[in-house]
Amino acid sequence: MRIGILTGGGDAPGLNAAIRAVTRRAEEDGWEVVGVHNGWAGLVGDSDLHQLQRGDVSGILPMGGTILGTSRLNPLRDEAQMRQVLDNLERAGLDQLVVMGGDDTLSVAQELCQRGAPVVGVPKTMDNDLQVTEYCIGFDTAVARVTEALDRLHTTAASHHRLMVLEVMGRDTGWVAIMGGLAGGADIILIPEYPVRIEEVVARLEERRSKGKDFSILVVAEGVDLGGLGLQPAGAGARDEFGHPQLSSQGVGSLLSDRLARLTEFEARVTVLGHTQRGGSPTAYDRIWASAVGSAAFDLARQGRAGMMPAKIGSQIETVPISEVVASQRRVPEDLYQLARYLH
Ligand code: F6P
Repeated sequence: MRIGILTGGGDAPGLNAAIRAVTRRAEEDGWEVVGVHNGWAGLVGDSDLHQLQRGDVSGILPMGGTILGTSRLNPLRDEAQMRQVLDNLERAGLDQLVVMGGDDTLSVAQELCQRGAPVVGVPKTMDNDLQVTEYCIGFDTAVARVTEALDRLHTTAASHHRLMVLEVMGRDTGWVAIMGGLAGGADIILIPEYPVRIEEVVARLEERRSKGKDFSILVVAEGVDLGGLGLQPAGAGARDEFGHPQLSSQGVGSLLSDRLARLTEFEARVTVLGHTQRGGSPTAYDRIWASAVGSAAFDLARQGRAGMMPAKIGSQIETVPISEVVASQRRVPEDLYQLARYLH
């Protein structure tokens, strides 16, 4: 039996732990393992596949990124490419393909399943916005990076009595911002799910000042609605193959910091955390759960359960259909958002 492994979309710390888990479990069971290089790009055209052996995954557990490489190529945009993917899967003699990705990559996996391809999923996205599963590879590490950045920003903010604005990733949801902001004790957290006008932000900063707090820390998710805040986007920016705008080019952090500096007594500075949130070594939690979902994905593949994905629900790994996971985005619930409001 032959099993393929593919990682698609943005890289995320913990992917290598999952690749290692699938490879080791599969080899143990006597399967051949094939790595697909650079996401769906590795299955179009002449394809880019290489056999993976135990030695190839030795020592990769603490490594960030993905040893297989990734891309945002979207074969759903081009029927000819979809046919190439299906043909290449067949030509490579893959009995199963484990696809590690977020909603974009998994939506391609879902379509391949509909067309009869034997594909199982693994939840991966630092944005943590997949439905049903409470664990996505890379999210815990991203939250740890935000927390560490906030700890550092606190000391310099306090010393200079400034407003520090930290812009974090997360695309259309505020998971990274809310969890990182809670852990790092941010005073104000702005996320796409709960729009706030800039006047309210100013009022909250002034209230803090009136209580003797002479510095403030604000976390803003890159995907907040600038219009809703009352700000003009800097520019539309490029879009990727799945149609997502490059949110970092909107510059929400610096727009906000400039405007707040004008509207309040605070001197303001901005930090854009960017790709450091998903680079480097995974946390222990990401290593452990990525290994667990990787191993569970191999079990699903071995049982021939195409179209399914391991999801973390509570402290258990359950099996859910990929179609459910990609049906909509998981949004930050109100109680979590309120918790951050209470604690400012
Ligand atoms: O989806 C993960 C993510 O890191 C988002 O949080 C961010 O908006 C986007 O990818 C950045 O994409 P790119 O890798 O193309 O810069």
